[in-house]
Amino acid sequence: MDEIAVSCIIFLLIFIRCSQCAFTPTDIYLIDCGSSTNTTIGNRVFVADVSLSSTLTPSSNNLANTSFDSVPSTYGTALFQNARVFTMPSSYSFQINAHGRHFVRLYFFPFVYASFNLTSATFSVSTQDVVLLNNFQPQANSAVVKEFSLNITRDTFILTFVPSGSPSLAFVNALEVVSVPDDLIADTPTVVDPSRKYQVLSDQVLETMYRVNMGGPQVFPNNDTLWRTWDTDQKFLLNSQLSKSVLYSGNIVYMQGGATEETAPEIVYSTARELASTNTSNAQFNVTWQFDVDANSNYLIRFHFCDIVSKAAGDLLFNVYINTWLVAGDLDLSTLTLRSLATAVYIDYVLEANDAFSKIIISIGPSTLNNVLPDGIVNGLEIMKINGSVGSTTVVTPPGSKKNFVIILAVILGAIIVVTVAIVLYLVFRKKKLAKQYSKPWVPFSINGLTSHSTGSRTSNGTAFTVGVNGNFGYRLSFAVLQEATNNFDENWVIGVGGFGKVYKGVLRDETKVAVKRGNPKSQQGLNEFHTEIELLSRLRHRHLVSLIGYCDEKNEMILVYEYMEKGTLKSHLYGSDLPPLSWKQRLEICIGSARGLHYLHTGQAKAIIHRDVKSANILLDENLLAKVADFGLSKTGPELDQTHVSTAVKGSFGYLDPEYFRRQQLTEKSDVYSFGVVLLEVLCARPVIDPTLPREMVNLAEWGMKWQKRGELEHIVDSRIAGSIWLESLKKFGETIEKCLADSGVERPSMGDVLWNLEYVLQLQETDSSISEVNSINRIIELSPQVQNINTLATTPVGEIRTSAINDLSDVSMSKVFSQLIKSEGR
Ligand SMILES: *[C@@H]1O[C@H](CO)[C@@H](O)[C@H](O)[C@H]1NC(C)=O
Ligand SMILES: *[C@@H]1O[C@H](CO)[C@@H](O)[C@H](O)[C@H]1NC(C)=O
Ligand SMILES: *[C@@H]1O[C@H](CO)[C@@H](O)[C@H](O)[C@H]1NC(C)=O
Ligand SMILES: *[C@@H]1O[C@H](CO)[C@@H](O)[C@H](O)[C@H]1NC(C)=O
Ligand SMILES: *[C@@H]1O[C@H](CO)[C@@H](O)[C@H](O)[C@H]1NC(C)=O
Ligand SMILES: *[C@@H]1O[C@H](CO)[C@@H](O)[C@H](O)[C@H]1NC(C)=O
Ligand SMILES: *[C@@H]1O[C@H](CO)[C@@H](O)[C@H](O)[C@H]1NC(C)=O
Ligand SMILES: *[C@@H]1O[C@H](CO)[C@@H](O)[C@H](O)[C@H]1NC(C)=O
Repeated sequence: MDEIAVSCIIFLLIFIRCSQCAFTPTDIYLIDCGSSTNTTIGNRVFVADVSLSSTLTPSSNNLANTSFDSVPSTYGTALFQNARVFTMPSSYSFQINAHGRHFVRLYFFPFVYASFNLTSATFSVSTQDVVLLNNFQPQANSAVVKEFSLNITRDTFILTFVPSGSPSLAFVNALEVVSVPDDLIADTPTVVDPSRKYQVLSDQVLETMYRVNMGGPQVFPNNDTLWRTWDTDQKFLLNSQLSKSVLYSGNIVYMQGGATEETAPEIVYSTARELASTNTSNAQFNVTWQFDVDANSNYLIRFHFCDIVSKAAGDLLFNVYINTWLVAGDLDLSTLTLRSLATAVYIDYVLEANDAFSKIIISIGPSTLNNVLPDGIVNGLEIMKINGSVGSTTVVTPPGSKKNFVIILAVILGAIIVVTVAIVLYLVFRKKKLAKQYSKPWVPFSINGLTSHSTGSRTSNGTAFTVGVNGNFGYRLSFAVLQEATNNFDENWVIGVGGFGKVYKGVLRDETKVAVKRGNPKSQQGLNEFHTEIELLSRLRHRHLVSLIGYCDEKNEMILVYEYMEKGTLKSHLYGSDLPPLSWKQRLEICIGSARGLHYLHTGQAKAIIHRDVKSANILLDENLLAKVADFGLSKTGPELDQTHVSTAVKGSFGYLDPEYFRRQQLTEKSDVYSFGVVLLEVLCARPVIDPTLPREMVNLAEWGMKWQKRGELEHIVDSRIAGSIWLESLKKFGETIEKCLADSGVERPSMGDVLWNLEYVLQLQETDSSISEVNSINRIIELSPQVQNINTLATTPVGEIRTSAINDLSDVSMSKVFSQLIKSEGR
């Protein structure tokens, strides 16, 4: 009791503050890591750390069903959608303009992106002086914000992320370094046991474990001048029936030397948890909260009090316990506030490690003095762990750290860049013979204005890089890395041949499987497409678009490296191979997936992107048969606002080409819709889009299919292997969708979004299998199919295999020259 009075008098005397002056932080760094766009949360702008394409953004699909339970939405789920990934020690560095306490907040939400499974990341985060997180493992499906309060007494503050697990992976989604008022953490808390002053708080790191608005609502960062989050207390309360929450509608008084508006928001002081009122003076019960903590640490425990329940000073007397220690007996708040009511105060205690076990139990109970009614309140509570984790600090000093940085975003490395660098370094050290030819420890990943500096041999505990903030796209891989990954472009590793060149299977040093597309260096057209594709793909991130992992333009090479798609092209699963047939449902899911990818291309960016070469050979399947749209070599960004189309030389693949585009040479998104309609037919019928071996009216699948669709008898040409499993309603809707896509004029065709919706509906119809009348329809398809099959067999048999290979070549080629030849051959 005396201790408290003394400590309060001390801060009454020492601190004189203007409670009306809003606090403006001197240092304020808000960074949306791994993002290429700034993110505004409330009144704060989180700056994109680098406008590099190497950022990791999970597609909206991944995030849609993610649980953000542990983080209030006002933290901004937007901040959790990108991450900066580190595969070796790397750091951020900040210029500090005002020494003193700063909040350092680290945002984490592990997700899976391409080959990076952030859930399996284990890492440490340290500053030059302390370890903040040691072997930290973010929990799957939970977004967390770790908050630390540090007294920074250096001009440059460096935060280093050190991967410590296997795979070597660290990440961060967003971070803040913000000044806090110096008087927020006073240096005179009382130690719980044995009771004495705790003197050394000023140097110590505090990690926020709990911050609770007792009896009040949750407070979000944008309602707190220091952007803190205050939780509600119900989930910590043991006997909720013994207490009630109270709300005070008057103004809270801030006394000089007491709590300030920065100590806690007003809503914390104007709400409280109070002992449930009883009318007996001898009721004996405690209200207790329980908090899980780590044992063996010191904790700073701050109580916020404000007597919003008493009618007169001196009415309220109660006991406060931490664990089982009575830290304040017969506490009379009015003695701390010069007998003024509704006045904000706080009291700090330190629970030392030898008294701290895995729970902190806070209780308030009625005073045992005779003349007072049982009562007691707490308005707010903060539990902060003193001193960060133990462990050794790692400091990766960014090169060229100087005093006069504006904002230094040093050593922020895109995941893939780091992977690359690691591989290259490894390669250099292991294969000395290559060192001569590729003597740089890594290839700078810059295209325009980006710089990277080698410090590879300078520090033993890590490597540092600096990147500018004006980079544009891509991450370069060295030729040597790709040589190794593809077994020196082994012909046996070729998985595809296209107009652009050969595609090889490859395995990077970290065992990531990749598809390596090596262009023919002589083709100028190829060069344009090469750049289009790098630029487009590095801007686009979507679950249903094949991701670009890197590229190589060393020595006139044009090599694109993509994520490896285990199951190959959709086309290969439809015909021309001995792969088992896909079920109707699998086919629909693939169509829906690719429609999503195309829909994103058309609408996901400010300017629509037209694929221009939609075909079954450009729809790839991963090991789970998830469809991804590939091959953006021909893509064009869509019309400017004042135009409705893009004029361009006709390009695309024969058999899929929009007749209107061909006639008018004007490109719109609807050309992709047409081609997609042809793909839908292909999926249904499982035959090539152009098959010159067939009778004339059957050669062109689009024409042939539309003929049957217009007669309402599409079931006649369904792939016989699955005909029996298709519900007629589902087929009918599917046929209608195709018909709309293949409309002669672009304006009559649906948007990709509508197509997507329709396909989802088709899938629903297929899955609702209750109606009995439909059973008959199924039978009908089964009966009819053999006939169709006969026609096919009859027509194909005499022609033989030579033709078949020619067909395959045609639909795989995407060049305008080939196209013009084909027009002639069709005219014959
Ligand atoms: C993001 O914010 C920073 C600082 O406010 C500004 O310099 C930069 O231009 C912004 N970037 C974008 C992409 O808006
Ligand atoms: C996401 O959640 C919604 C509703 O909670 C559900 O309808 C939808 O099927 C879920 N999507 C996935 C991909 O799980
Ligand atoms: C990611 O890693 C976690 C833990 O290592 C594992 O449980 C999970 O299945 C992995 N997810 C994927 C998609 O690989
Ligand atoms: C920060 O540390 C310095 C040096 O130890 C000390 O002088 C200063 O008072 C501290 N500031 C705070 C807010 O604790
Ligand atoms: C802040 O809190 C007040 C009352 O507690 C509420 O009316 C207001 O909407 C809150 N503001 C925000 C931005 O949450
Ligand atoms: C007040 O006391 C009377 C008798 O002791 C009891 O019946 C009644 O329930 C009490 N009221 C409250 C609100 O506890
Ligand atoms: C309240 O809690 C303290 C500390 O655990 C204990 O000593 C005291 O006996 C409790 N009082 C009642 C009435 O349970
Ligand atoms: C906390 O850190 C300070 C200096 O940073 C050190 O003197 C003190 O012993 C540490 N305390 C604990 C409990 O680790």
